[in-house]
Amino acid sequence: MGKDVIIACDFASAEATFAFLDKFEGKKPFVKIGMELYYAEGPSIVREIKARGHKIFLDLKLHDIPNTVKKSMAVLSRLDVDMTNLHASGTGKMMEAAIEGLTRPDGTRPILIAVTQLTSTDEETMKRDLLIDKPIADVVMHYAKCAKASGLDGVVCSPLEAGKVHEVCGKDFVTVTPGVRFADGDKGDQKRVMTPEEARKIGSDYIVVGRPITAADDPVAAYERCCREFIG
Ligand code: C5P
Repeated sequence: MGKDVIIACDFASAEATFAFLDKFEGKKPFVKIGMELYYAEGPSIVREIKARGHKIFLDLKLHDIPNTVKKSMAVLSRLDVDMTNLHASGTGKMMEAAIEGLTRPDGTRPILIAVTQLTSTDEETMKRDLLIDKPIADVVMHYAKCAKASGLDGVVCSPLEAGKVHEVCGKDFVTVTPGVRFADGDKGDQKRVMTPEEARKIGSDYIVVGRPITAADDPVAAYERCCREFIG
């Protein structure tokens, strides 16, 4: 799997997204489209960004009965995204159905990764609201193993968990890690952060970076710095 920097395009409209992407001129960064932008603009935003030549991680985190997820994944696959995701808590059956739906007639499919436990969920909340008593690190690794057993390519995880995920699931199991900040940058609301260089050392395959690039005075320079530090 190629190492890359994925820019989280957390914008509310196509207009704001294109104004941002236009700054990159000839460059075509890998971009993440999340729920806000997708629900605001619909599938046309995916087609338009794809037509501009970008790779796309469509971050919609599906979680439903297997049949519904399978059919929805078939739709996303036809949109020709490069990577998409679901919640591992939807269980192995749902993940297997997702792979089936995502696989095109020619056997190709986008990279499929699983969300384990959201980083907004802490151990106390997991116990209280979900009745899960195990340590959160064990839960994350169990979900990662389950995702692998279901045929998925990897997981979204904190950069702090990426090394352990590779230990447990193998080095080819993809880790996509948000929560990246420059050493001299603002952390914002992210609590457990790593620099791009640290994420590289720990073995993240892809880093997802939003505000350190989108809110920078010079987003192109910030993106290039990120690539230099992460990819080398
Ligand atoms: O702006 P920032 O770099 O914090 O953006 C990180 C991106 O990664 C956002 O789109 C956020 O929703 C996403 N993300 C995250 N933590 C997770 C899963 C996704 O920050 N556990």
